[in-house]
Amino acid sequence: MKVLIVGSGGREHAIAWSVAKSPKVDKIYCAPGNAGISEYAECVNIGAMEFEKLADFAAKEGVDLTIIGMDDPLVGGIVDVFEARGLKVFGPRKNAAILEGSKAFSKDLMKKYNIPTAAYENFDDPEKALEYLRTEAKFPIVLKADGLALGKGVLICNTLEEAEDGVKEIMEDKKFGNAGNTMVIEEFMTGREVSVLSFVDGKTIKTMTSAQDHKRAMDGDQGLNTGGMGTFSPSPFYTEEVDAFCRKYIYQPTVDAMACEGRPFKGIIFFGLMLTPEGPKVLEYNARFGDPEAQVVLPRMKNDIIEVVEACVDGTLDQIDLQFEDNAAVCVVLASEGYPVKYEKGIPMYGFENFKDKDGYYCFHAGTKFDEDGRFVTNGGRVLGITATGSNLKEARKNAYAATEWITFANKYMRHDIGKAIDEA
Ligand code: AMP
Ligand code: GLY
Repeated sequence: MKVLIVGSGGREHAIAWSVAKSPKVDKIYCAPGNAGISEYAECVNIGAMEFEKLADFAAKEGVDLTIIGMDDPLVGGIVDVFEARGLKVFGPRKNAAILEGSKAFSKDLMKKYNIPTAAYENFDDPEKALEYLRTEAKFPIVLKADGLALGKGVLICNTLEEAEDGVKEIMEDKKFGNAGNTMVIEEFMTGREVSVLSFVDGKTIKTMTSAQDHKRAMDGDQGLNTGGMGTFSPSPFYTEEVDAFCRKYIYQPTVDAMACEGRPFKGIIFFGLMLTPEGPKVLEYNARFGDPEAQVVLPRMKNDIIEVVEACVDGTLDQIDLQFEDNAAVCVVLASEGYPVKYEKGIPMYGFENFKDKDGYYCFHAGTKFDEDGRFVTNGGRVLGITATGSNLKEARKNAYAATEWITFANKYMRHDIGKAIDEA
């Protein structure tokens, strides 16, 4: 088979690594890809939002399956473009990717189908939002831009003043562009966060092993929200009891709700959960693998990813026995100092040879490229995801942090407390 992967981050590197293990695959392309991905795939210089060009490429090269890694093209309807051309593609259609593309839609869906989530109201008029905040709101409160905002469109406001500023930022100043035309105001929840990714074929859902992300830039969950500074898997807080609850009240009900709405979901549903004192509730849905969740979940998956993905596309997921290793994985993101605000790029990196032939150690590239002399240089805020496995979380964490030392670059930055929460479990 020839497989095309669309995207260019650490998640797509992990997907490419996983696809490369499949005996069914003999050629991988990635558009646009990055320097690390080029170890497994021929990188093609077409942007992820250039749907027609991507479809032309897939048709011309005889690509048998295209896997969409990123949210923007899914929400923009890339799957519909490929399907209209008769090209096999993995991911939700536009009318289903709205589960991630519109928080107002997903909140209304959960309300209609009694799926546990925080209480909320949707607003498309800033005056009405302000009136609600002044008269009915309890603080802290959460403001969310409706649309995609690179994981940054969520504001937790402790006071009315902060919330008033938030409404201005999102709805009037349009800090997140049209994503802020509509806004969700939501009850603040407390508890542990867990990410559960799942494969879905329109009717059947198979969940993967759990993971937890660290979204803030600095140790102790301080600093700004980022795309994710590190992950561990499994989450010791995701107990069998929690799993049973989520299966009954969240996972299958979400898939059934989408089918019932005439929006059958095929692809990955990523459930962002909060384990609140009243039980698990949905924080958000994503319509793709998490980044850097994929970097800890995929190395633990036993199945051939191509078989699972094809079963999703063909509607035969019920016949797949999804299995994960009985081990643990930790991923520490190496970022550029200053991320997520301002940082230098183009800095040479050293030490990649240290990962050669080391079982259970992975160096997933996020923002990297080759310079004119063919050297690896940094090319983004999140640069690399260093993953290691171990027989348990503590061992995986020790291994991952040891491996972060194998790579050097001048403005290397990382959190030192990824997975620290497991000490409390
Ligand atoms: P989201 O993009 O919706 O996952 O939100 C980003 C982050 O904001 C989440 O990972 C949570 O840490 C936090 N968050 C979102 N919604 C809530 C909520 N209702 N209560 C508390 N924290 C929240
Ligand atoms: N790591 C969070 C996300 O991918 O949305």
